[in-house]
Amino acid sequence: MPAIAIIGAQWGDEGKGKATDLLGSRVDYVVKFNGGNNAGHTVVIGDEKYALHLLPSGILSANCTPVIGNGVVIDVDVLFEELDALEARGVDVGKLKVSASAHVIASYNRSVDKVAERFLGSRRIGTTGRGIGPTYADKMNRIGIRVQDLFDEKILRAKVEGALELKSQILTKIYNRRAPDVDAVVEELLAHAERLRPMVCDTGLLLNQALDRDETVLLEGGQATLLDVDHGTYPFVTSSSATSGGACTGSGIPPRRLDRVIGIVKAYTTRVGEGPFPTELFDDFGAHLSKVGAEFGVTTGRARRCGWFDAVIARYAARVNGVTDFVLTKLDVLTGLEQVPVCVAYEVDGVRHDEMPVNQTDFHHAKPVYEYFPGWWEDISEARTFEDLPKNAQDYVLAVEKMSGARISVVGVGPSRAATIVRHDLL
Ligand code: IMP
Repeated sequence: MPAIAIIGAQWGDEGKGKATDLLGSRVDYVVKFNGGNNAGHTVVIGDEKYALHLLPSGILSANCTPVIGNGVVIDVDVLFEELDALEARGVDVGKLKVSASAHVIASYNRSVDKVAERFLGSRRIGTTGRGIGPTYADKMNRIGIRVQDLFDEKILRAKVEGALELKSQILTKIYNRRAPDVDAVVEELLAHAERLRPMVCDTGLLLNQALDRDETVLLEGGQATLLDVDHGTYPFVTSSSATSGGACTGSGIPPRRLDRVIGIVKAYTTRVGEGPFPTELFDDFGAHLSKVGAEFGVTTGRARRCGWFDAVIARYAARVNGVTDFVLTKLDVLTGLEQVPVCVAYEVDGVRHDEMPVNQTDFHHAKPVYEYFPGWWEDISEARTFEDLPKNAQDYVLAVEKMSGARISVVGVGPSRAATIVRHDLL
């Protein structure tokens, strides 16, 4: 049975929950493989709405084992806050497994994230302020604290001392803050260790054994392709690998075992934080997409920047991730427009680019080249087959599919679970 990755194909918030919902009870393991509590997804089950930041959505399905993989950075306080909140609502969270090799977000890294953003001023990234970047930087610098370190106080103390040798200098000398106290940091990191211990294991082994038994493993990507530290709009990216390659390194599942890569794209584009965004709208259309699409972040509540669909980006995401199927979400948000523009290429200094420009500077200067498709006025939220869609909406989907480099297997036509058209099964 397959290993399936779900990857955001734009700048995040594409509505990955739609695909996760569709796979639902057929999945045995749901794995978060990158990022931390910078993510945010709302899952609606019955009348209950759950906002999750760190936990994989599989935590809500009774017969699915949720896994936090080695590629994740964990704020242990947030982990237990989310678990407690779910338990209080009667959700059984006992099956959660956590990688012993995942890194832990220490409080000094939350401080560094916030002060660094202030220090950068107009060059800021617009991070979520959760300590994600500094924790991944420590991982690469080999001064990170891992989950397994929490179970050996002596080792933990030595590692915290090592990390603070550098961090204290940075915080005091560059940012003019107080140096963190080793004892306080160790105490804070140990606070939940005993509660965490039974959840911790070699999750790579667990997942490969599950695949050996023909069970289904779903790798749920946080953030998205254009926020990936290698393939995104660097430096305006997150600090982890959000693409299908990251699904492998962040979980311990080898590339040859990935059977399917599902790319999630919104029928338009949004972005949170700073950075280039060629199809961004600053007019009434942008305000319309923001309002009708309810484009506010789950994690920070920030308003998302909105723009038209960008086929250059979709093609790029298809290529970088090896997308086998796209899920096109929020098509209903485009209802009621005279014409629907799609960016088919860019123009940079008078030169047409059909693919992503090689240089970031060119991408900053890219002007979208639009093709215009006739709009539709009919309410499409009750459509359940492709043929139920008005002809113009069908043509829009087919045109976008042709430009994007992989088939569109699912179309979302409204926020509810049922408001979905399945053209090809995702499993
Ligand atoms: P960080 O991940 O907090 O370091 O933030 C880096 C960039 O990624 C910022 O522009 C954030 O707004 C963006 N970002 C991080 N997580 C998400 C997400 O889940 N959705 C959309 N944008 C995100």
